[in-house]
Amino acid sequence: MEETEQSLLAESFTSAMTLNNSGVPQVPDRYVLPPSQRPALGSSTSTRETTLPVIDLSLLHQPLLRSRAIHEINMACKEFGFFQVINHGIPSSVVKDALDAATQFFDLPVEEKMLLVSANVHEPVRYGTSINHSTDRVHYWRDFIKHYSHPLPKWIDMWPSNPPCYKDKVGKYAEATHVLHRQLIEAISESLGLERSYLQEETEEGSQVMAVNCYPACPEPELALGMPPHSDFGSLTILLQSSQGLQIMDCNKNWVCVPYIEGALIVQLGDQVEVMSNGIYKSVIHRVTVNKDVKRLSFASLHSLPLHKKISPATELLNESNTASYGEFSFKDFLDYISSNDFIQQRFIDTLKKSSS
Ligand code: OGA
Ligand code: NI
Repeated sequence: MEETEQSLLAESFTSAMTLNNSGVPQVPDRYVLPPSQRPALGSSTSTRETTLPVIDLSLLHQPLLRSRAIHEINMACKEFGFFQVINHGIPSSVVKDALDAATQFFDLPVEEKMLLVSANVHEPVRYGTSINHSTDRVHYWRDFIKHYSHPLPKWIDMWPSNPPCYKDKVGKYAEATHVLHRQLIEAISESLGLERSYLQEETEEGSQVMAVNCYPACPEPELALGMPPHSDFGSLTILLQSSQGLQIMDCNKNWVCVPYIEGALIVQLGDQVEVMSNGIYKSVIHRVTVNKDVKRLSFASLHSLPLHKKISPATELLNESNTASYGEFSFKDFLDYISSNDFIQQRFIDTLKKSSS
C-alpha cells in the first residue's frame, strides 16, 4: 500500500479495543444502529428457547453408528444450516493455546497491530475493525485479524510475528480445523446422498481464511452489534467462541442465542453449500451481540473452494422437475462483490438466485 494511503487509513482508524481501554461511557455515534436493527437484548424474541443441535462426531468413526451421525447432520442442516459438535478430535490444549495467542495479539499496543492494517479485502493478512472501517456507514464493535491459513507453509511467514507464540499456536489450531473440515464436508456430502468424496479435491486445494475476532466489553450493548446479520460465503465455517454472543436466525426469522458449550465447536453452512445442494440446505444467517462486562474472542475458520473454482448445484441433485435454482460462483466473485457493494444491504447469495425459484 502507498505510504500516504496507509497514513490516511491510520488517521481515521480507532479500534474497539482502544475505545474500551479508554473507558468511554457511551458508544460513539457511529456505532449506534437504527432502532429496527438493534439486538433487543433480554427480550423474549431474541433469546427464545429453541434447542439447537449438538452432534457427537465420534460416531462418524464407528462403522455401526456413522449413519446415525449422518442422519443427525442431515436434520440439523435442513432445519438450521447450523450445529455444534463435541468429540471433534481437536485437543482442548490446542484450542486453549490459540485463544491465549489471540488474547496476547489484541492486547498489543495499537501501533504494533497497525503494521498489518488494510482496507483491501484481497490482502492475505489483514488487521481491522468493524467490517471495513473506511466504508461502513454504521460501525461494529469488533476488531479482527484475518489471514489465509491453507496451505500453512505458504502463508504462515506473513502472519503476526508478535506475540512470538502466535504462528505456532494459531498454526496448530488452523491445521487441526482443516482436518476437521475435511471430515465434515465428507459427512455433509454423504448426508445429501452424494459420494463422500464429492468435494474432496476442491477441499484439499481450497482456501482457509482464519478470522480471529475480538469483541471487547461494550458500554451500550443494546445499541450496537459486534457483527451485522450475514451468511458466510464459503463451504463451511468452523467457529470457536470463548463465551456466548453468537445468534442465528431460525426458519421463522427469530434470532436464537447459541449457547456456550465448553469444548464444543460450531459448524455453520456457507453459501457454497447452499448452492451445491441447490437450496436443500441453506447457509445460516447469523450476527454477533456484545455485552457490558466480558471481552469475547472467536476464531471463525472460513473454508472455501479454491479462489477461482466455480461452484454450481450438484448435477446428481437435479432432474427435469428440480432444475438449478442458483447460478455458479467462486470465492473471487464474492470478494469482488463485497469490495464494490454493501453486503449488508443485499446478501451475495441472493444475486445468484434464479428468478423462477
Ligand atoms: C464471522 C462470524 C461470528 C463470531 O467471522 O464471519 O460470523 O461469533 N463470526 O465471531
Ligand atoms: Ni460469519
